Amino acid sequence: MKEAITILRSEHRSISAVLQALKDLARMAQDATARPRFQVLRSMLRYIDEYPEKLHHPKEDEHLFKRLVARAPEARLLVEELQAEHEEGARLIRELERALLFLEEGWPAGAREFLAAVDRYAEFHWKHMRKEETQVLPLVEQHFTAEDWAAIDRAFAANRDPVAGLQERDFEKLFTRIANLAPAPVGLGEPWKAG
Ligand SMILES: [Fe+2]
Ligand SMILES: [Fe+2]
Repeated sequence: MKEAITILRSEHRSISAVLQALKDLARMAQDATARPRFQVLRSMLRYIDEYPEKLHHPKEDEHLFKRLVARAPEARLLVEELQAEHEEGARLIRELERALLFLEEGWPAGAREFLAAVDRYAEFHWKHMRKEETQVLPLVEQHFTAEDWAAIDRAFAANRDPVAGLQERDFEKLFTRIANLAPAPVGLGEPWKAG
């Protein structure tokens, strides 16, 4: 498989892992006897907000999508739909942040609304990633030329320059922190306690 496709798929896996963990914790937060540790919820939101925004979507928008439309004009509608979803995702994240703030201030009030916002966002983002994997990537593999792949590889490698590299490492660190802070059995952290 082409390196660029492997990278995009593996980024989808990282985002999915955090989304799944967030869904689990939003369910645990329904228990009014154990106050959630909000730090981990805030870290998760930061991850699913900034990782796509700073690392993942730019690769898709700037490199993959543009080139695909040039090679296969019939993909234009699909690409426009996905780009609109990148915008919509940013809006839904703001909704999620508001729901988390509300929960943190009023816990246990706001738990149900937070869970609903998390489920809505996770469903939205999963559909988006599935569309990319089942519709865009096959078209890309079908239509890209050797020259396209070389250009994409160069563009993705540029993503690993010292500044972007630092950013990627930051996200890896954040991912590890989330796994360490998330309460068992979702992560390796202490269970949320009563009181
Ligand atoms: Fe995307
Ligand atoms: Fe994606």
